Amino acid sequence: MLPGPPPRRGRAALVRPADTMGWRGPVQLVLVLVLVLALCDGATTNQPHIVFILADDLGYNDVSWHNPDILSPTLEALAREGVILEQNYAQPLCTPSRSALLSGRYPFHVGRQYGVLSPHMPTGLTLNVTLLPERLRSAGYSTHMVGKWHLGNCAPEYLPHHRGFDTFLGFWCGQLEHYNHTVQDALDFWDGDRPLPELDGVYATSVFTDRAESIIKEHNASRPLFMYLSAQNPHAPLEVPSEYEELYPATMNADRRTYSAMVTALDDSVGRVVQALKDADLYSNSVILFVSDNGGSVFGNHGSRDGFAGNNYPLRGDKNTLWEGGTRTPAFVHSPLLERAGYVSHELIHITDWMPTLLRLAGASADGDPLDGFDQWPMLSAGQPSARTEMVYNIDEKLPNAALRIGDLKLLWGDNSGSSDWYPVLEALPNSSDRAPASGRRSVRSSLGSLGEYPVYLFNVTADPTERLDLSSLMPETVQAMLERLLELSKELVPADVPDPDPRGDPVDGV
Ligand SMILES: *[C@@H]1O[C@H](CO)[C@@H](O)[C@H](O)[C@H]1NC(C)=O
Ligand SMILES: *[C@@H]1O[C@H](CO)[C@@H](O)[C@H](O)[C@H]1NC(C)=O
Ligand SMILES: *[C@@H]1O[C@H](CO)[C@@H](O)[C@H](O)[C@H]1NC(C)=O
Ligand SMILES: *[C@@H]1O[C@H](CO)[C@@H](O)[C@H](O)[C@H]1NC(C)=O
Ligand SMILES: *[C@@H]1O[C@H](CO)[C@@H](O)[C@H](O)[C@H]1NC(C)=O
Repeated sequence: MLPGPPPRRGRAALVRPADTMGWRGPVQLVLVLVLVLALCDGATTNQPHIVFILADDLGYNDVSWHNPDILSPTLEALAREGVILEQNYAQPLCTPSRSALLSGRYPFHVGRQYGVLSPHMPTGLTLNVTLLPERLRSAGYSTHMVGKWHLGNCAPEYLPHHRGFDTFLGFWCGQLEHYNHTVQDALDFWDGDRPLPELDGVYATSVFTDRAESIIKEHNASRPLFMYLSAQNPHAPLEVPSEYEELYPATMNADRRTYSAMVTALDDSVGRVVQALKDADLYSNSVILFVSDNGGSVFGNHGSRDGFAGNNYPLRGDKNTLWEGGTRTPAFVHSPLLERAGYVSHELIHITDWMPTLLRLAGASADGDPLDGFDQWPMLSAGQPSARTEMVYNIDEKLPNAALRIGDLKLLWGDNSGSSDWYPVLEALPNSSDRAPASGRRSVRSSLGSLGEYPVYLFNVTADPTERLDLSSLMPETVQAMLERLLELSKELVPADVPDPDPRGDPVDGV
């Protein structure tokens, strides 16, 4: 079991005594050295290994514990032995979610609230923020990233191995061909700075799993390990080795069959990684987290179901919406260090919470940087109540739209009209007369823009997680109070950073 809140340990803490206590001279130097040795020793026993697995576009209805048609036995066993997080929230899209995960900040605080980074965009996650791997590395961790980055590739300083990861094997952009590792016909597959054309034809998930295994196998257990396994599956394009597809009935819808098989390939990958932790004797001091970055992509980017087959049913909406289907994602924590395990948690947790939670596990701190997340370790490990009662789903001044959760209640404002129905697994589209009418139209002025009138919805997502009963006309004072809170928050908004694509980002020699 992990003892209470671990004290600050590791390198970040080491410089502090000398600085803050004003120690001077040789005797003090010896004392500092003794302290350093003591802390290094402590680090081996107190800092857990952390394996953070981020699935890409895995929807609420795309895991076997929500949908028995999906084959994800390994994930389900890990989830059931750990804690299933039923109220886990991410941002509605890849780049904003990854930004929130690694910075601990709401995207609207760092300019990443609108859309995703395109391959040619001359920007990335602002260099103003210090990322989770940088802080863990300062705390003594060996830090590794495998898989999808999608936080900027316009200059070296935006790339993962320049932002706190000791090693990186993976791709920079948002979507990659799973076998030839190209995006827009250019290779985007890297080991650090080195492109990897020689792996052409190998399913990317296998490459990532091999790398994750070898990192674990070669890891010197005298240091804590942080691995960010940013999985590619089950993101489009729909490609998977046939052995996985054959596990599903041939009579299924072909896209959904391939997609489901991609989830099973991910399941296998996670199983191999956990086995590697056990083989390397790291497992007993490991915390394994599994989270999806946003809702399943029902319609993809082009308003058709071609090539996208994710599913969020019975939740409402699609990826890239503020409805529960876009933001509430499958997640679990699995660890022998949990004091209480084997149950489903209904406590609220948001993707910004991982930064302070993992820093606490590492005995590190954010050095006074403002964070939007909360340390959720007491909730995760001991079943205590969530540390948060308020959550911003997003504030986007460009669409515009925004959503805010306070306690049981969720307020949606703005343009939330796209893909806002309930979509069962590749069946007839549901009857749109089911849709909750937006009863109020409210104008919101501020940095969100005085953009005229937009619909407002209010749901009790505890009683009504599928967002069918709009309460806004019944609770006008609550609506007003929550709109005012949104306005207050929107004053902190950093304008969306979405420069035009720059042709200087064109591939060179096909890379
Ligand atoms: C980064 O910091 C600069 C200077 O403080 C500030 O002007 C800018 O808005 C910040 N950018 C983001 C995206 O936070
Ligand atoms: C990569 O694979 C995809 C899917 O098979 C194919 O459409 C594309 O042309 C390939 N690109 C290259 C550069 O080989
Ligand atoms: C692991 O690291 C420790 C401390 O640096 C070192 O003494 C030990 O030899 C290393 N073990 C291996 C197997 O490299
Ligand atoms: C949609 O709902 C209406 C009214 O309840 C009903 O008459 C109609 O049959 C439904 N259509 C479908 C496709 O379910
Ligand atoms: C929301 O619904 C739950 C479950 O029915 C109920 O206990 C709670 O009081 C409701 N919250 C509000 C603010 O109405």
